[in-house]
Amino acid sequence: MHSADCDEPRPTKMLFDEHRVIERVLHVLDKLARNVRDGGAIDTADAADVVDFLANFADRCHHGKEEAELFPAMERCGVPRDVGPTAVMRAEHDEGRAHVRAMRAALEAQPADFATFARRGSGFVHLLRDHIMKEDQVLFPMAEQMLDTAAREQLVAIFRRINDHDIGAEEYARGRAIADRLTATYGEPDAPAGPGGASCCAP
Ligand SMILES: [Fe+2]
Ligand SMILES: [Fe+2]
Repeated sequence: MHSADCDEPRPTKMLFDEHRVIERVLHVLDKLARNVRDGGAIDTADAADVVDFLANFADRCHHGKEEAELFPAMERCGVPRDVGPTAVMRAEHDEGRAHVRAMRAALEAQPADFATFARRGSGFVHLLRDHIMKEDQVLFPMAEQMLDTAAREQLVAIFRRINDHDIGAEEYARGRAIADRLTATYGEPDAPAGPGGASCCAP
């Protein structure tokens, strides 16, 4: 184990920063779901943008890096593949995918099924906020402690390659732009994100 050092490569810092972007869109989805439950109308195009962001930026890009790179790196250091914390995180990603598929189907129904969109949307918000908290406060600090410097440097390089080439810089920027556009309309989360394990020099 090593102590946290701002000069050391910190692969989970990239994932921690993506959590902050995802949380902004969770705030928008929470508002849309509340509007439906309160009997108000919602903008279908904005709801479709939320689903687009969750399927591409949050799942394909962010959960993709965790599942394909971070979790296997931790498992190579001894975290059990089928029963440990990474298994729980994978199962929660799958649970989230089911919510997102249901939200997309509800929006594409003729007529659109906003009640189902709101119900599955609220389920996703609760699931992912709790998931992000567990990763920030437990899993990411665990990863930074168990991975040696070479493994952490390798992960940082792989994450950059994924963002810039596999996902593509343009697509990555498109995801962030959706979050910016939605929060310009619906506002930012009330409370700023608390300090997490992967923030620079946090424990
Ligand atoms: Fe995750
Ligand atoms: Fe995550």
